[in-house]
Amino acid sequence: MRATARARANIALVKYWGKADAGLNVPAVGSLSITLDSLHSETSVEFEPTLECDTLTLDGQADAAALERVTACVDLLRESAGIATRVRVVSRNNFPTGAGLASSASGFAALVAAGAAALDLSISPQALSILARRGSGSAARSIFGGYVEMHAGSRDDGSDSFAEPLLEAAAWPLRVVIAITSRDRKRVGSTAAMGVTAATSPYYPAWLATSAADIDSAKSAIGDRNVAALGAIAESSCLKMHALAMSSSPPIIYWNSATIACIDAVRALRNDGVGVFFTIDAGPQVKAVCVTEDAATVADVLREIPGVVDVIETGLGAGVEIC
Ligand code: DP6
Repeated sequence: MRATARARANIALVKYWGKADAGLNVPAVGSLSITLDSLHSETSVEFEPTLECDTLTLDGQADAAALERVTACVDLLRESAGIATRVRVVSRNNFPTGAGLASSASGFAALVAAGAAALDLSISPQALSILARRGSGSAARSIFGGYVEMHAGSRDDGSDSFAEPLLEAAAWPLRVVIAITSRDRKRVGSTAAMGVTAATSPYYPAWLATSAADIDSAKSAIGDRNVAALGAIAESSCLKMHALAMSSSPPIIYWNSATIACIDAVRALRNDGVGVFFTIDAGPQVKAVCVTEDAATVADVLREIPGVVDVIETGLGAGVEIC
């Protein structure tokens, strides 16, 4: 009744922001991501008959705040197995937690995979993706490696809201250079921020209306292996998402001054002929995506920017695996 799984973080090139059903955690829009090789969560799940309640240790510390979502996910596994046994969950990230580096994506993907393995449930990757979504929308994508599309779906029960792989990492091995501009936990979590946005941003209807076309454009850019075309759509989706957050009431600004300096640097590199583009999730870190030959140049430039405290370089990685 014990298993460990490793899942990798992913970054969305076409963003998910907003929910169609908060209870089932069904996203209001589809999304498209790449799974990152070097940023992972390793999560052990042990169903332990003597436990009176579920416990969660995250990076060596009890985490009561995240426990509620963990229990909600594990309840679905318990329901499938027809048991009520409580779990001990121990999870570790090899990167800063809660700082806009998709720790909930890798964490929940690893959780459901380890939980299903611990219970010996034979479950399809698609069903695993749906379970991971209940923990965190972006986690549905971390079940798969490489290039991944998340379908918002249209069914009321969320049964068609899952991710699926589009292209293997090796088929187009882009690199991602991540500029860490703060190690602090973000002040407003994405779930809460999405709620405020949907309720108050005047731009939210336009966001919903343009997302499907963004996904189509990104898919054809990936099909053509066209960095410039993929970059144009990824930067536009990222800036739209942040414009939504900024135009909410109260406004939500995830960036700091180094974030903006990194955006400027990426744009300047591009003017100099380097094939690179940026994306930023719900935090201040800037992820620069480029071809392998340009990764060292991009990393050197970002490392020199005042306020950049670390630079992590990674390739694209595989889906969730049982350790
Ligand atoms: C900006 O998946 O963290 O990273 O479903 O509420 O847990 P919840 O949200 P979460 O949101 C991710 C937002 C994003 C964009 C993306 O990954 O698509």
